[in-house]
Amino acid sequence: MSTLEDKYKILEEKYRQAELGGGQERIDKLHKTGRKTARERIDILLDPGTFVELDKLVTHRCTDFGMEKQQIPGDGIVSGYGKIDGRLVYVFAYDFTVFGGSLSRTNANKIIKVMDLAMKMGAPVIGLNDSGGARIQEGVQSLGGYADLFFRNVKASGVIPQISAIMGPCAGGAVYSPALTDFIFMVDKSSYMFVTGPDVIKTVTHEEVTKEDLGGATTHNTKSGVAHFIGQDDEQVLMMIRELLSFLPSNNLEDPPVKTTADDPNREDPHLHDLVPVDPNKPYDMKEIIISVADDNYFFEVMPQYAKNIITGFIRLNGRPVGIVANQPAVLAGVLDIDASVKGARFVRFCDAFNIPIITFEDVPGFLPGTTQEYGGIIKHGAKLLYAFAEATVPKITVITRKSYGGAYCVMSSKHLGADINYAYPTAEIAVMGPEGAVNILFKNIQSEEERQKIIEEYKEKFANPYKAAELGYIDEIIYPSQTRKKLIQALEMAITKKEVNPPKKHGNIPL
Ligand code: HXC
Repeated sequence: MSTLEDKYKILEEKYRQAELGGGQERIDKLHKTGRKTARERIDILLDPGTFVELDKLVTHRCTDFGMEKQQIPGDGIVSGYGKIDGRLVYVFAYDFTVFGGSLSRTNANKIIKVMDLAMKMGAPVIGLNDSGGARIQEGVQSLGGYADLFFRNVKASGVIPQISAIMGPCAGGAVYSPALTDFIFMVDKSSYMFVTGPDVIKTVTHEEVTKEDLGGATTHNTKSGVAHFIGQDDEQVLMMIRELLSFLPSNNLEDPPVKTTADDPNREDPHLHDLVPVDPNKPYDMKEIIISVADDNYFFEVMPQYAKNIITGFIRLNGRPVGIVANQPAVLAGVLDIDASVKGARFVRFCDAFNIPIITFEDVPGFLPGTTQEYGGIIKHGAKLLYAFAEATVPKITVITRKSYGGAYCVMSSKHLGADINYAYPTAEIAVMGPEGAVNILFKNIQSEEERQKIIEEYKEKFANPYKAAELGYIDEIIYPSQTRKKLIQALEMAITKKEVNPPKKHGNIPL
């Protein structure tokens, strides 16, 4: 008869095997590529000692291709729950050392378990992806597992924050599930995302492309807009996830966490007095305003390398997290093009889903003209931004710093789209279009340049200012730029109890 000690030894041995995953050799190989194991990543991500693992002894049930002889306790996923800054989160991490982190039916069930718990308890889910996609040996069972995950990703969307990190080569389902989540982080030079890899592309389209060019962190953070953040290594990405979560509520029924600050809410910044040039053709860096007004001058930027003509990210104002959407006059004059519209719209919708007030800084000459934009569908993509702002019921505060022309005036969280407080700087120019364009259209037949300049000056005086809009009540207050922080905090604190609901409906039909 076995002793009590024998029974403990059996458990110990099973846990040891689970912790070794695909074996020391594969762990060493993984480390050589600069990557950490699934367990190492979870340890770095969570508050020390808080990780509770679930399903550590689950095994796959595949009997094809000799798989019954290759059973590893836990299979290819490490999953469970723990804490970040003392708050509950659920986590799953693909273990690349077990069949390349591929998704078996039982792996899918493990992820489903933590996602279902996360939905019931109302806590974020973080997925650390390092996976070759569907486990080839399991065929449709694995595909079914992915589809079950996609279904849950969609059901959880807008209910709990879902965050993905791509930390190795990810293909097929291993990229589609992250694509359905709120934010994607990638590790520079060791992570890849593609639907099909370079070999398949070469066969089908004869294109030759490296995996870095095709689906590396730089590609997805600068060209495709699939990813939102890039970190230099595993540790940095995991720390960035912790940082992001500090701005977010645990679910859509909670408010974002308030962080006490010693930064004076009435702090003025004389630097802002002359930051915005009077000459509308001169650029300046909108980030200087954002950083100036933020608590402790701290700005956590989202998608910093994509469509830089619009800025998105989080700051805190007197401790409260807010989302920032801002035109960037320093890049393409801050024009709204397809990429900027989609980037802004998605961010606005995220903030609205999770009760994060939106502050909009506006200096925009309008939508980008041209056939590339028109053929690419700027009409429907620009409409996404308009739709997102109009649909958002969180507190919305807008500051027009300079140009607010044409459709862009309407789109960028104008009073007419339900903004609660609309400020303008004395440098604001709110009109249907810029003076030159307007005069060229209205006074086509003027021959003398002198007369044309005179009319342009007249137009500037009459229309290129914030006073007409203020007279109409479309602008609530014209503020001194140096007082922007104080004014934003006043408006935010006034609007924080805002209760507004859209008409009952199944869901709207945003122009996709
Ligand atoms: C089973 C897999 C696997 C998979 C990798 N492995 N992918 N096992 N199913 N999908 C195994 C390998 O056989 C190998 O086992 C180990 O994992 C490591 O893989 P390597 O190829 O040696 O690693 P590396 O060179 O780093 O390449 C990683 C990779 C490549 C880029 C991910 O393995 C790859 O291309 N895999 C297939 C990707 C893919 O096409 N997946 C199916 C997608 S379809 P050993 O024993 O040698 O260590 C899909 C359906 C969902 O996901 C559809 C959604 C809409």
